[in-house]
Amino acid sequence: ANASKVAILGAAGGIGQPLSLLLKLNPRVSELALYDIVGAPGVAADISHVNTKSTVKGYGKGEAKEALKGSEIVLIPAGVPRKPGMTRDDLFNTNASIVRDLAKECAEACPDASILIIANPVNSTVPITAEVFKSKGVYNPKKLFGVTTLDVVRASRFISELKKTDPANESIVVVGGHSGATIVPLLSQSGSELKGEQLDEYVKRVQFGGDEVVKAKDGKGSATLSMAMAGARFAESLLKAAQGQKGVIEPTFVDSPLYKESHGVTYFASNVELGPNGVEKIHPVGDVTEYEQKLLDVCLKDLKGNIEKGEKFVKENP
Ligand code: APR
Repeated sequence: ANASKVAILGAAGGIGQPLSLLLKLNPRVSELALYDIVGAPGVAADISHVNTKSTVKGYGKGEAKEALKGSEIVLIPAGVPRKPGMTRDDLFNTNASIVRDLAKECAEACPDASILIIANPVNSTVPITAEVFKSKGVYNPKKLFGVTTLDVVRASRFISELKKTDPANESIVVVGGHSGATIVPLLSQSGSELKGEQLDEYVKRVQFGGDEVVKAKDGKGSATLSMAMAGARFAESLLKAAQGQKGVIEPTFVDSPLYKESHGVTYFASNVELGPNGVEKIHPVGDVTEYEQKLLDVCLKDLKGNIEKGEKFVKENP
């Protein structure tokens, strides 16, 4: 398809606004539907003046279905952001029900769309969305994505700061999940060698890089601009793949066979090849060092809990 409607749920928020703008600048998008419980019409009117050819429309409370109808891609940054001292998991109580409700709207209005979850905790909100889609009989594991692009963006940026290289030339493999110790950078696969304390510090910075932003924003939220960039990059990759480009690879948190049988971990982030129907091929984790294996062991244990928490939430609060 060359005409692509993209919907953003939570479009008037800190992430939603720059994400909307970046997608307005993307020539692959033909129609932008901006939905939020407050403020979307204003954001839409503003962005609609940008002189690219796509159309933009804002939708308020009660208009989610209208916004979603015909969408090929839906990005969901709706929800509350972190305050200092909070982990992504602390957001669960508020964001779980927001994502559940929006997932219901998507399952009914655009069951075939690619759904990109940005609302945290992604390790749980992706399983929540899957459970909602399953309950409506429309779950397609190839089209549900947790956006983990920012972890790889940070991993590349941070290594380039240490090595004094161009971050655009750094590509670091990051696997696992999208929260703290579940984020596992596999430096050994990128030809970059760090040792001892420097390696520990690097890994911690990639895992907890989001906290630097939360702290610097002084109680007013978490990463919005860099997250918007990451979300826009992921959407662009999906659009490229949908429009026929081959070999498009992005890291993302998806329904994955990699650790299903061995660890009972049903969703996992790794590099994924995207095609016109979503997930085409899930790259295996590959060779890891002993150090990285230890990180993976912690990740898998945490992830299992995060996933089960999301699934249990939907069972108990359908
Ligand atoms: N439906 C639609 N929009 C909603 C809903 C809902 N049920 N609930 C909240 N929103 C909207 C808010 O009105 C707001 O405009 O979501 C937006 C969230 O924006 P911010 O509060 O600025 O939060 P932001 O920094 O964008 O982060 C949103 O993304 O990365 C994650 O951890 C982050 O979970 C957080 C989410």
